Amino acid sequence: MRLDKALASSGYGTRTEVRSLITKGKVTIGGIQVKDPGYHISGDDLNTVAVAGSPAMIKEHIYLLFDKPDEVLTAMEDPRLPHVGQFIPPNLKNRKISPVGRLDYHTTGLLILTNDGELSHRLTSPSYDIPKTYEVVYEGAPLTSLEKEESGEGIILDDTDEKVKLKPAVLELADETVARITLTEGKTHEVRRIFAHWGRPVITLRRISVGPVRLDKDSAEGSIRELTGEEINALLKVTGLI
Ligand code: URA
Repeated sequence: MRLDKALASSGYGTRTEVRSLITKGKVTIGGIQVKDPGYHISGDDLNTVAVAGSPAMIKEHIYLLFDKPDEVLTAMEDPRLPHVGQFIPPNLKNRKISPVGRLDYHTTGLLILTNDGELSHRLTSPSYDIPKTYEVVYEGAPLTSLEKEESGEGIILDDTDEKVKLKPAVLELADETVARITLTEGKTHEVRRIFAHWGRPVITLRRISVGPVRLDKDSAEGSIRELTGEEINALLKVTGLI
């Protein structure tokens, strides 16, 4: 990673500001002055950077919580449609951040973005059983304990050529048209397919949690923030990375 990028994304100023710090000789690596903003740092170097004589905390991994709006594609680039890449703060562009899993174009809510590939893999792989909870507003008669039971046993979807048995899911009935469903796998359009199987088309779908990370109560669609240290640690813990 370039030194200027590493410092900018670790909170030491804009790219221009950190470049100026570097060229003025204020930055050392392992005690040695480095005046090249494009100097490549990695591995142990990350722990020996100092700015104006004080040890710098360089973040190798970036973890963001994005509240995806409706009509935004889960993609970092797209020639035509609004996409997640457009919401990444400028100082974090080029840090190889990508979405952890996918939300449909019309699904809103919690999408973690990171450049920590191993965490991303573990959060999405069905073998790690990371629960993801969705709030669903649906059409039709209120769901009942029958659907709760079916969810708990593992629904059999027959909307494709081959029947698919889903892993058990927890269904909570919030009120007559709102339910919460918690899944530990991420088959394509899984929630919409489950509700279609029950004859209850989804009106809106919003993801409210991924493992221990929950969407803030007053979260606004389109908002983006860094995960807190506590949230990062909780994610690393549930995925067995610490
Ligand atoms: N299930 C769906 O149907 N859509 C999503 O975006 C996520 C889960």
